[in-house]
This record gives sequence, C-alpha cells and structure tokens, in this order.
Amino acid sequence: MNIETTLLNGYRERFKSEPTFTARAPGRVNLLGEHVDYNDGLVIPTAIDLTVWMAFSPSDTNENTIVALDMDDEVTFGLEHLAAKTRADGSPMPDWAKYPAGVMSMLSQAGHPTPPMKAVFTSNIPRGAGLSSSAAVEMVFAVAWQKLGGWTVTPMELARFSQKAENDYVGVKCGIMDQFASACGEINRLLVLDCRSLTWETAPLPPDVSIVIADTAVRRSLANTNTYNARRESCEEAVRLLQSKLPGIRSLRDVSVEDFQRFSADLPVEIAKRASHVVHEIERTQRGLALLQAGELAAFGQLMNECHDSLRDLYEVSSSELDIMAAIGQALPGAYGARLTGAGFGGCTVNLVESSAAPAFADALALSYEQQTGRHPEVHICHATLGAQVMP
Ligand code: GLA
Repeated sequence: MNIETTLLNGYRERFKSEPTFTARAPGRVNLLGEHVDYNDGLVIPTAIDLTVWMAFSPSDTNENTIVALDMDDEVTFGLEHLAAKTRADGSPMPDWAKYPAGVMSMLSQAGHPTPPMKAVFTSNIPRGAGLSSSAAVEMVFAVAWQKLGGWTVTPMELARFSQKAENDYVGVKCGIMDQFASACGEINRLLVLDCRSLTWETAPLPPDVSIVIADTAVRRSLANTNTYNARRESCEEAVRLLQSKLPGIRSLRDVSVEDFQRFSADLPVEIAKRASHVVHEIERTQRGLALLQAGELAAFGQLMNECHDSLRDLYEVSSSELDIMAAIGQALPGAYGARLTGAGFGGCTVNLVESSAAPAFADALALSYEQQTGRHPEVHICHATLGAQVMP
C-alpha cells in the first residue's frame, strides 16, 4: 500500500469521515556544510523524496487530536496545555507530540491563529537517521496551521518558527538548515543557504549525477541531543576565546583559515578541534559551491570526502558504521564523493554518483556494507523535491 493510501485509511478509520486537506513535507539531505548552520556558514542541502504526509480537518472541539500512525499513538491537547507540555488529561505529552505542540506554541505566541485540528500523519523518512524527520513533522504542521488559520508568511518564516519550536520547546539547539530545506525545496534543484543573512538561491543538480543515500541502520539515541548541544556550546566558547585576539568576530564564520591557524594553539585542545572543523568546513563549502557551479564534480566530491574525515577526526560525530559506509562509497566505480550527512552519531551517508553507475553503485554498497557489518542497509537513489505544502 502506498503512503497516501495508508494515510487516508488511517484518517477514515479514526475520524469516520474524509479529511478536508492533505499536506506533505519532505526530509532533506545535506551535500556540504555540516555543523556550520549554527555558526553562520553556508550549507548546500536539498529536499528529498522521503516525506511526511498528513490528512487534517478543522477540529469540532477546542482541542487538537493528533494521531501518529507510525507510533500507534494519539494525543489531544489545546492551547492551554502547551506551557505544561501535557495532554488534555494532564498526563505528560509524549516526545513525538512536542514537535507539533512546539510549532503551535511558537505560531500562537507570534500572533498567528492556530485553529485546533484533527489530524493523522505518517512518514517514510527514517527517524534519527540524519534526514530531518523531525523538521519535516514541524513543517507539515506549520503549513497546516497556516492553511487553517488563513494567514500567510514566507516559507522561510515558517521554517524559522519550526526551528524555534525545536530550540525552545523540544530543547534541541539546532540551526536553520533542516527546516529551511523542508520548507523551500525545489524540484531537481540544490539549495544554497547563507545561514547568516538567510538569503538563499538554488543551483541545478548537475546533469548525469545522482544523490544516493545509504542508511547504516544505526540510529541516533536521545543522549546525542546532549552531544549536539555540547558541540554548539564548544563553538560558542571558541568564539568567546578568540575574541581576545580577533575582537570583531561574532561567530566562527568571521574567522578565516589563516587567522585560525595563527591563534588556534591558544585554545583548549578539544575546543580547537571543534572550531577547526567548522572554520575549514565553512571555507570548504564556499569553495565547493564554486566547483559545483563550474561542473567540477570530482573536485567537489573530494571536498565531501574531506568533510567526512573532519567530522570523524575533529568534530567527532561519526561512528564506525558511518566510517565503513563512507569508505565503501568513496571507493566504488562512479563515485565522486561520500560522507556522513546530518548531525551524525549514526544515520546515513550521502554519495554523489555518476547517474549511469548509480544502480550498480547502490547494490554494491549495500552488499559490501552487509558483508562488513552484518547489518542490512536501505539505499535510496533520491530526487530533489518541492518544499512543504498543503496539497492543492
Ligand atoms: C542537525 C541540525 C541542523 C544542522 C545539522 C548538522 O540536522 O538540525 O541544524 O546543525 O544537524 O549540520
């Protein structure tokens, strides 16, 4: 059964009626610019054809009733339950429901009406796999409330509300990249976002190139949220310490590779490693964009490989499975580059591959990974898709 049929059946079964609307929001994969969004850097993600789907209608009561088909769970809550993060019956809100509740909270605090809805959603974006399943959930609710509330803001503004929900309600201090990509995706285009100015453009996916996503089948755990937030704090600490030498800097975006080389020896070792990744990754992504635009795919792929090494050795967010998967991808025929994508700690690699070689690449990657780890990976040749929308 396809995902839209599953969704409609789920809605009909629960609410004994037809939904007024359906909406979708994509996951994303990031080609280059990892752990730089919260350091004001440049990122090159794309929205992918793994998606959250939701069927929804205005509620008959003052409360939302939201069914997560994949969790086999349902919550009911209204505006008055947001602050305490409880269900309407006073019991704690489950973690998955904090994403919609957080979005509702941020939108309503900003004065955008969020009429209660009854909704059912499902997703084929693997959770905890570095493909932004949570940003897609946030964005599907953001576009749904925009529709029900009868107001309109830009997709970027909706993305910022969703990011704020994740930062201040869920408690993950993420940057803007994931929500942005889920909001602003375009068919067959890469997205290029300057995370300082929030200006963005698109770039064509070079012809004859495929993006292959390979899932290690190892999932991030909750503890990794703390590690993620700790990485962000290390970057902020590096800026504070470097400000004594470089008074004008506001973030690691303002530190050139040359300045970093001059002053990094004064930083505590661990902080220096984290900052070194970020400073070089920001520079790599700027170089990478020029290479992509010039069609220099081999050189771009080389930067992806360097990014993986840096995430492994300096930022220390890789895992043995991700290292194995990236190494296999880098060595296969037709590959330009391969690296872990997203926050890390488990999840997926992204591989840039010559299109004619992609099917054989995907098979060989899966086989070799399974031989080396005993785990069966999902491998997906992905397509760049449109950002979150209520279906016309
Ligand atoms: C997660 C966060 C993003 C970004 C990436 C790492 O996906 O949600 O904001 O920081 O990690 O690049």
